[in-house]
Amino acid sequence: KPTTWKGIAEIAGVPLSADTVDNWSQIQTFKAKPDDLLICTYPKSGTTWIQEIVDMIEQNGDVEKCQRALIQHRHPFIEWARPPQPSGVDKANEMPSPRTLKSHLPAQLLPPSFWTSNCKFIYVARNAKDCMVSYYHFYRMSQVLPDPGTWDEYFEVFINGKVNWGSWFDHVRGWWEIRDRHQILFLFYEDMKRDPKHEIQKVMQFMGKNLDEKILDKIVQETSFEKMKENPMTNRSTVPKSILDQSISPFMRKGTVGDWKNHFTVAQNERFDELYREKMKGTSINFCMKL
Ligand code: PPS
Repeated sequence: KPTTWKGIAEIAGVPLSADTVDNWSQIQTFKAKPDDLLICTYPKSGTTWIQEIVDMIEQNGDVEKCQRALIQHRHPFIEWARPPQPSGVDKANEMPSPRTLKSHLPAQLLPPSFWTSNCKFIYVARNAKDCMVSYYHFYRMSQVLPDPGTWDEYFEVFINGKVNWGSWFDHVRGWWEIRDRHQILFLFYEDMKRDPKHEIQKVMQFMGKNLDEKILDKIVQETSFEKMKENPMTNRSTVPKSILDQSISPFMRKGTVGDWKNHFTVAQNERFDELYREKMKGTSINFCMKL
């Protein structure tokens, strides 16, 4: 495993895997269709969770249908590339419509056809500090990403936006600011934890579905952290150890709000809050209040 943050390339100042950057022209010319639904998140914000919710709604609460494939195969990951395997775009192109797709791209780097096709988007934001903690453990377990070093070293990398997919602040702010200009359902991980049924209902309405109360309750149960942690279709247990070593940290790690309190020092917290205020100045979004 490399010990420095090398091997990552950049597009417009946003660090991305070198394979993604090599495949950039295919990604940017991807042809979205008007009935595509794109799930978009900053990494570690609850992507897998919302993916399972969306699929359960799509399948009218039929658990067996959601077991048809691994979550990462049900929804092509648009910017994913690792030749000679088919890229995320290749997989999306082979998929029948209506398609649900996944991306971690900041809004300004999204293939333009998503905007021109007037697609629907679901964006999930998670509070920056918990996201940062979750990403740290993901970097530790990932055998293809660079070593994050100590927590203190990683802290600097994260707040400077040098992790893959770039700055949390720019990402969340970028999507937040355009939320009324497109068909974007903007959700918060913390709201999903507090009242999953209410948030799932919003997703259902946004998808134009009308499922009865009993099915809704079943979706709430089946997409709980405990269930998804045990579900081999969602817990990444089939990903080889050479890529994701879950003996270091499980993919379904804690699934809680506020774990940052077990990682941040008082000084780091103060520094982070100051940076947050500066970076998020002038937006109506305020995650620090959601802790
Ligand atoms: S990825 O790799 O970016 O797609 O990861 P992502 O799925 O976005 O984020 C992983 C974190 O989400 C937590 N998770 C959940 N929390 C609550 N409920 C459910 N059902 C759920 N499923 C996944 C997962 O545990 C990771 O967060 P941490 O804090 O590390 O536990």
